[in-house]
Amino acid sequence: MTQRTAFVTGAARGIGAATAARLVADGFAVAVVDLDPDAAAATADTLTAAGGTAIGLGCDVAEEAQVEAAVARTVAELGSLDVLVNNAGVLRDNLLFKMSVDDWDTVLAVHLRGAFLCSRAAQRHMVDNRHGAIVNTSSVSALGNRGQANYAAAKAGIQGLTRTLAMELGPFGIRVNAVAPGFIATEMTAATAARMGVDAEDLQAKTAEITPLRRVGTPADIAGVVSFLASDDAGFVTGQTLYVDGGRRL
Ligand SMILES: NC(=O)c1ccc[n+]([C@@H]2O[C@H](COP(=O)([O-])OP(=O)(O)OC[C@H]3O[C@@H](n4cnc5c(N)ncnc54)[C@H](O)[C@@H]3O)[C@@H](O)[C@H]2O)c1
Repeated sequence: MTQRTAFVTGAARGIGAATAARLVADGFAVAVVDLDPDAAAATADTLTAAGGTAIGLGCDVAEEAQVEAAVARTVAELGSLDVLVNNAGVLRDNLLFKMSVDDWDTVLAVHLRGAFLCSRAAQRHMVDNRHGAIVNTSSVSALGNRGQANYAAAKAGIQGLTRTLAMELGPFGIRVNAVAPGFIATEMTAATAARMGVDAEDLQAKTAEITPLRRVGTPADIAGVVSFLASDDAGFVTGQTLYVDGGRRL
């Protein structure tokens, strides 16, 4: 049996890197895909050094030609494409009256156009195999978050994309689901703290206080759920968005 292959975007660091590591541990060969090619290569090297199979690929998920090339290279080098994890993301937070068109477009392009382009490129191979799983990354911010009109719109859009692709691709044996993380300790949330002028650990502690499970999340918390949604254990689960937020929005 050939090794199953996963294509994980934004995988050089944070949640994406933890997901790539978890999928390697699950037995996948993993394409570590990121805007930063050196960081992608470094993360892939770490996985390979630990005995896994991984390649690092530089790719801007918002650019059609780059996405097509990265998917083609993955299939050529790793042999197939069984799982796609659309995880790449950026923040450009601002209140509406201060939000530039660039900040709006960048966030919508990376999250939503990126997920569309990667899903469209990946599904060709999955349809041929009559098997596959796509896991998208939404957020609790999809429910609305002050200062994140662009990000909330993109993350809510991801949920509509997830349900629609589940309908279209289900007949071909392809499942499409999303995770919606709450506060996860990564460079993204550290950058938010810096922008707010507060210490990253203080922001984590304050968030933990108002979270039912009394802690913030780790990248591994998300990776574990992505692993489940990508696995055959979730073989009858499609079109769902699973909130992974310690109960924060209950
Ligand atoms: N950290 C959180 O609290 C949190 C909460 C909810 C959702 N999320 C989502 O989870 C995902 C990962 O977040 P993270 O906290 O690990 O962020 P992060 O900033 O630590 O990592 C994001 C990665 O995406 C890459 N990236 C950015 N733009 C890209 C592009 N155009 N093409 C390819 N790669 C690109 C970056 O280089 C980086 O390696 C994002 O979609 C984010 O919106 C995070």
